[in-house]
Amino acid sequence: MTATLTKSLEKGIKNVNPKADIKTIMLLEQEPEYCKGCNTCQKEKKKSIGTCAIKDDVRKTLENMTKYDVIVFASPIYEFCVTALMKKFYERCLPLFKFERGISGRNKKSKKRIGVIMLSSGAPTPFNTILRMSRYPVFVGKFILKSAGCGSIKKFIAGAMENNKKTKEKYANKAYKLGQKIANLF
Ligand SMILES: Cc1cc2nc3c(=O)[nH]c(=O)nc-3n(C[C@H](O)[C@H](O)[C@H](O)COP(=O)(O)O)c2cc1C
Repeated sequence: MTATLTKSLEKGIKNVNPKADIKTIMLLEQEPEYCKGCNTCQKEKKKSIGTCAIKDDVRKTLENMTKYDVIVFASPIYEFCVTALMKKFYERCLPLFKFERGISGRNKKSKKRIGVIMLSSGAPTPFNTILRMSRYPVFVGKFILKSAGCGSIKKFIAGAMENNKKTKEKYANKAYKLGQKIANLF
């Protein structure tokens, strides 16, 4: 279901801007390693991104996240959270933060850089929100997107897409329109 949303978003962007350069990262294919909590990333505080001691694909992804115009985090809701795999990735985002009298993002926020949080739950709307299953995914997703420099954050929460074709189409359409809207901002 989540892939339906991201694909529709992509189609919407491409509809407005066929030349848009879109890179999709499937965490399942990259299988990020766990953050070891070694704090190597906290050594240099002035850089826009700390150096992660783990040399896997996530390092490059984090570097790119400080440059992209639009960053989309997409995950189904599992046990009132993002998936374990997405959580593993979230934990690897520590190099985007610095600890100096509290935690703060390293990159200056720009309204021209957009972050999107896309979630898909089994529970229908508005219960997915009322029951707070999107609370952690949105809160932490926003925190990370802002730390990468996104000054404008959009959230998209789809519910019960698998229940019937009409609901699935409704959300796919909404995601397509969001894609068009985002592309029109550039
Ligand atoms: C292990 C597991 C846990 C889930 N936990 C929740 C949950 O807490 N709340 C909810 O509304 N749906 C939950 N669901 C349903 C999924 O969020 C829903 O089916 C979603 O649309 C799946 O997206 P996908 O097809 O991209 O995997 C869960 C599904 C699985 C497999």
